[in-house]
Amino acid sequence: MSFDPNTLQNVQLVREGHLAIVTVNRPAKLNALDGQTIAELDAVFGSLDADDGVGAVILTGAGEKAFVAGADISVLSKQGVLDGTQNARAGQLMMLRIETLRKPVIAAVNGFALGGGLELALACDVRIASKTAKLGLPEVSLGIIPGYGGTQRLPRLCGTGVALQLILTGDPVTADEALRIGLVNVVVEPPELMAQCKAMALKMVSRGPTALAMAKQAVRRGVHMPIADALQLEADLFGAISSTAEMKEGMAAFLEKRKPSWLRA
Ligand code: COA
Repeated sequence: MSFDPNTLQNVQLVREGHLAIVTVNRPAKLNALDGQTIAELDAVFGSLDADDGVGAVILTGAGEKAFVAGADISVLSKQGVLDGTQNARAGQLMMLRIETLRKPVIAAVNGFALGGGLELALACDVRIASKTAKLGLPEVSLGIIPGYGGTQRLPRLCGTGVALQLILTGDPVTADEALRIGLVNVVVEPPELMAQCKAMALKMVSRGPTALAMAKQAVRRGVHMPIADALQLEADLFGAISSTAEMKEGMAAFLEKRKPSWLRA
């Protein structure tokens, strides 16, 4: 899908300096992910990846109640084998785009993050949740399984024991419980959510942009590799960044006791 911001129906994109704030915007359906919404998210994140003026992204849901309450059940209820596989792949590829984006993505979990909504948050780099959020993978209670990466990313983040409990019971957890099991990074009172997300995103934006991209790549790719290969990847990326003007500026700024001035569009 080619990207024209004026044609977005279910997603909002707002720029604040070097931050991009992406909002899933179907509040009447608790921001459930239908095909249109997935395609728009895919196009928006594609454009953000290519935009050197964007240093970090915050992803959230419209309204007070939900981050994203899942894949759209009215769509799922009509699918067969072929479109079921295609729907899962479309969602997975969009979320892979977020996971491999060259800049940090913070999920501002402002309410229900269920099913595809939790899977979307899992594809982000950091999750900051409002105290009122509820997070879970209720798919088995609908007679299906998670299909947007939940069976793979949740055990990698929280361990197989926690993942299997959440996936096999289908029960959601509170934000405080999510913090305890490592599913979210920070829990805040609801009015503080966006301010906290912006503060963390701006801190990341103050760091070297190529360093952020390479550090993310080292973690994201390395976690799937045997340790010896992952360490080689880290060494290769470390070598690559040692040739950059960014490294020279970062080190010169330290030695000259000043803030670095990164090259950004
Ligand atoms: N897909 C499609 N529509 C959804 C949805 C989803 N995943 N989640 C919520 N909605 C819709 C509801 O059907 C309702 O639409 P309507 O007003 O046209 O009937 C609207 O959003 C509001 O939801 P409602 O259920 O009335 O809100 P609630 O506060 O009573 O309950 C939830 C909130 C999140 C507990 C409940 O909506 C829910 O269980 N949603 C499904 C969660 C889920 O199983 N997600 C995984 C899907 S694989």
